[in-house]
Amino acid sequence: MSNNLLAGKKGVIFGALDDKSIATKVAERCVEEGAQIILTNAPVAMRFGEIQKLGERLNAPVIPADATSTEDLEKLFQDSMKALDGKIDFVLHSIGMSLNVRKKREYTDLNYEWMLKTFDISAVSFHKVMQTLWKMDAMSDWGSILALTYIAAQRTFPDYNEMAESKALLESFARSFGYHFGERNKVRVNTISQSPTKTTAGSGVKGFDEFFDYADKMSPLGNASADSCADYCVLMFSDFTRMVTMQNLYHDGGFSSMGMSPKVLEI
Ligand SMILES: NC(=O)c1ccc[n+]([C@@H]2O[C@H](COP(=O)([O-])OP(=O)(O)OC[C@H]3O[C@@H](n4cnc5c(N)ncnc54)[C@H](O)[C@@H]3O)[C@@H](O)[C@H]2O)c1
Repeated sequence: MSNNLLAGKKGVIFGALDDKSIATKVAERCVEEGAQIILTNAPVAMRFGEIQKLGERLNAPVIPADATSTEDLEKLFQDSMKALDGKIDFVLHSIGMSLNVRKKREYTDLNYEWMLKTFDISAVSFHKVMQTLWKMDAMSDWGSILALTYIAAQRTFPDYNEMAESKALLESFARSFGYHFGERNKVRVNTISQSPTKTTAGSGVKGFDEFFDYADKMSPLGNASADSCADYCVLMFSDFTRMVTMQNLYHDGGFSSMGMSPKVLEI
């Protein structure tokens, strides 16, 4: 169902890899709500071909960019403004990858070069995106910038490994850059802290399926799906949330406020 919440708005969406990606759902919902979008992902992600199919379906240009490269980001935003014929109203950062998790290194035996690369891809890239937009003056006034995060930034989930620190850094960048963008352009910057979701990045975490069920039982509303996350992103890009900024917003069915649930005690 469309309410035309994003009619006339132009956005750039990072991180649609396949049909499970949260960014794919967000892209679909944004277009359904009347937005014009650009899809982007790392050059290596282009090989799988899924993003091109999504681009064709949504009539959205696909522009490769490694989010750790400011050169790629400059070109991306230049080409985006050309294709969209104007400045950018909203941006979604939906990027995460941990080298130590991928290579199955325990938290007590981390490789620090990989850790720095993980921080660069999963967190510093968010600062690079914002700084590039800032220097190019590419955001429209009253625009909205969002990144996706996870509650391991606040509480300890041992198997989330170094991604916990990545998310803490990501959330801090939203607050700090939110100040500057708010003062200069009335642009808001927030993070959405999403429930565990069955995607390529999510399923890479050890014991993910068991943890998914645990979180589902702990949350009075159950785990929030990627589709409902997309609805929330649309709201955050719409004019109904113009005064919300520098926040970490939980979208988790109530998980973050729970201590213990009888449903979990039963198992
Ligand atoms: N799946 C979950 O359980 C869950 C929960 C909370 C938050 N999140 C967050 O949601 C976001 C999206 O993840 P997802 O679950 O949809 O998985 P996903 O694997 O579909 O998306 C991750 C994306 O990051 C992209 N990426 C990796 N390196 C990149 C680079 N150098 N430049 C540009 N893009 C790069 C990948 O190509 C991929 O599209 C991530 O920030 C993730 O941490 C996921």
